[in-house]
Amino acid sequence: MSTIGASSSGVNDRVRRRLVDAVLGERDRPVQRRAVPTPALVVDVDLLDANIERMADQARTAGVDLRPHVKSHKSAFVARRQLEAGATGLSCAKLSEAEALVAGLADDGYDRRVSILLTSPLVGEAPSRRAADLARHCDLLVVADDPDGVDELARALALEGTRATILCDVDVGLGRTGVTDVAQALAVAQRAVDAEALDFCGVQGYGGHLQHIHGRRERRAATQQSMDRLRGVVDALESADYEITVVTGGGTGTAGLDLAIGVLTELQPGSYVFMDRQYHDALGDDPEGRFDQSLTIETTVVSAHYDGFVTVDAGLKAMATDAGAPRVLWPAEAGDYHFFGDEHGRVTCDPGRALHRGQRVALMPAHCDPTVDRYDHLWLTRGDEVVGVAEVTARGCSQ
Ligand SMILES: Cc1ncc(COP(=O)(O)O)c(C=O)c1O
Repeated sequence: MSTIGASSSGVNDRVRRRLVDAVLGERDRPVQRRAVPTPALVVDVDLLDANIERMADQARTAGVDLRPHVKSHKSAFVARRQLEAGATGLSCAKLSEAEALVAGLADDGYDRRVSILLTSPLVGEAPSRRAADLARHCDLLVVADDPDGVDELARALALEGTRATILCDVDVGLGRTGVTDVAQALAVAQRAVDAEALDFCGVQGYGGHLQHIHGRRERRAATQQSMDRLRGVVDALESADYEITVVTGGGTGTAGLDLAIGVLTELQPGSYVFMDRQYHDALGDDPEGRFDQSLTIETTVVSAHYDGFVTVDAGLKAMATDAGAPRVLWPAEAGDYHFFGDEHGRVTCDPGRALHRGQRVALMPAHCDPTVDRYDHLWLTRGDEVVGVAEVTARGCSQ
């Protein structure tokens, strides 16, 4: 069968590589961030490292494992820093995200075997075969919320001659995936225990609906309810003699509360490495919100002919829009950002303090995860200097 446009000519790759080379080229002097073509994702490396260390330290102090979710950054560069800061392993949303991260870490010279948790259930024979193959290259844990999913994976592992570990995914109120009662949890656990190529180690209970609740008291009450539900399933499994060594879940918005509540043995937060406007709005000065905004979308003013606003080069294609508009971080004379089409945005400014053509404007993304997925690179900076560039290794890997 012939394919169109799926050849290995790699035009896209060449264009992207040239773009990076044009900035970093033969570096005989420091590269200024102004040299980065916009719109671009810019990461302050020191703030990134501080965020990574802060979460690692919190988990370490509480005696809880940390398995950061890579869905937020999709980058082997960031994952490696998280592992080197003491993470037990990584969480991945999708199989191809995990495949890309495992390969990216190896390419990066990371020679330790990584423990990977797939936090979404797999369906069907082909994905199960891919997972069984991936299990050659990492210690693979997979959540399941249906005994048939356990069987599919068990058959694939037997064919490939590899092993994996099952966690029962429990719906703690989000209503997205996960068993909804104890009988279903027991059925999943039993199928895993029965399968030669599988181990069973515990449960996942991720409360996505909790993460952005405004007000710590409200967030805590709702988190407690979800964790009580999860505890109930753990108790039932233990009463039926299943050994539970891992109870995983939590995100940036509940991490501090999860540690205090004490049901989870493992945290899987993602956004804390970068943060975003949605999280800053929800968490305010709460302890869960004490992470720095390390990620910005940098844009350039491309037209400045009107009093009261200018046009910048970042529009709908440059960011996720599900959480509304980004917040303008600098310069001080810039006002608000408004969507202005696919390729452009409108930034307001006081008529007397106009922005000028060519000026840079930095935005705080409204929602970091799907914004990052729109870019090939993270430009790494210290102050005004570009100190490197990291690939968004698993960009688009959502299969
Ligand atoms: C299963 C699961 N775990 C953890 C996370 C990380 O959450 P956050 O980015 O809010 O820290 C997510 C995010 O959507 C998720 O889906």
